[in-house]
Amino acid sequence: MKRLGVLTSGGDAPGMNAAIRAVVKSANHYGIEVLGIKHGYKGLINGEVILLGGHEVDRIAEKGGTILKTARCSEFMEEQGRRSALETIKRLSIEGLVVIGGDGSFNGAEKLSRLGVNVVGLPGTIDNDLAYTEYSIGFDTTLNTVMDCIDKIKDTDSSHEKTTIVEVMGRYCGDLALYSALAGGGEIISTPERKLNFDTICLKLEDNINKGKLDNIIIITERMYNIEELEKYIQKKLNIAVRSTVLGYVQRGGKASVFDRILASKMGVRAVKLLRLGETCRAVGIRNNKIIDVDFKRVNCIDSAKDKEYDLLNQLL
Ligand code: ADP
Ligand code: F6P
Repeated sequence: MKRLGVLTSGGDAPGMNAAIRAVVKSANHYGIEVLGIKHGYKGLINGEVILLGGHEVDRIAEKGGTILKTARCSEFMEEQGRRSALETIKRLSIEGLVVIGGDGSFNGAEKLSRLGVNVVGLPGTIDNDLAYTEYSIGFDTTLNTVMDCIDKIKDTDSSHEKTTIVEVMGRYCGDLALYSALAGGGEIISTPERKLNFDTICLKLEDNINKGKLDNIIIITERMYNIEELEKYIQKKLNIAVRSTVLGYVQRGGKASVFDRILASKMGVRAVKLLRLGETCRAVGIRNNKIIDVDFKRVNCIDSAKDKEYDLLNQLL
């Protein structure tokens, strides 16, 4: 094998740069050249590439975002777009491709592998919404950012003895909300996996207030409710002042945590190993502290371990 390609796709995540670095360093170690494809699948279609050597990836591991830029590419959703990407791959003699992204990017990668391209995926998403892996690259950094924000909100909440609804990202996955609650971030939590209706939220809040807990954080996953409606509903029902904070894009930025850098580095090295072995259609992950790889078809297999974490949370709230 002489040449690999690497791209980042979908929402950016802290740690993507550490993954790029690991792919380049490991490939170079075996005398393999790496082309960085810019703007995800869009750049693959348009042939936007740069040669990545040790110098280009020096000191990028700690940086947030992705040096390769990322994009969402509707053209790639169509067969024609993927065929154009295949042309670029052939023209540039790319013998294996590392796709760093989330669920959608993996869907695209699987389709590309069906066209005969050797593709390996690294889970780069703050959402942690890929069931086959316990952690995705970026999740830990974002969780720490969420916790930092919630800790600050708590300072002012406790001073005013008031309640705040905090909306976190996650798309359709409640992990950012679940884990921040496990870390002591909130009193009431509602996620797509364990959705509470407005009345249940009010009942829990009322119970806390009756027990003397006057400052409460309600953590909710995005896209579940209209947050202003929830705020008004609680205010009317319990006759208390409630405010809400949508954490938004601050969650995707920032220097990658050490955990994410190490995870991304280990995963990047595994990706190169798999491609050198001629493997394709594999998604790299981590389970029981071991790096694993599974077929793309298995990335959404149900994660039963989450039930245990919700049980644990019930004891803590
Ligand atoms: P993420 O990878 O973070 O989940 P998206 O869902 O936006 O982000 O997907 C990123 C890109 O992957 C899309 O813009 C598209 O180019 C490609 N993609 C997503 N879903 C598919 C699909 N079903 N088939 C082919 N390509 C897809
Ligand atoms: O997948 C990462 C993510 O940040 C989700 O948490 C969020 O729902 C989505 O991307 C936001 O996407 P966009 O950048 O298109 O607003």
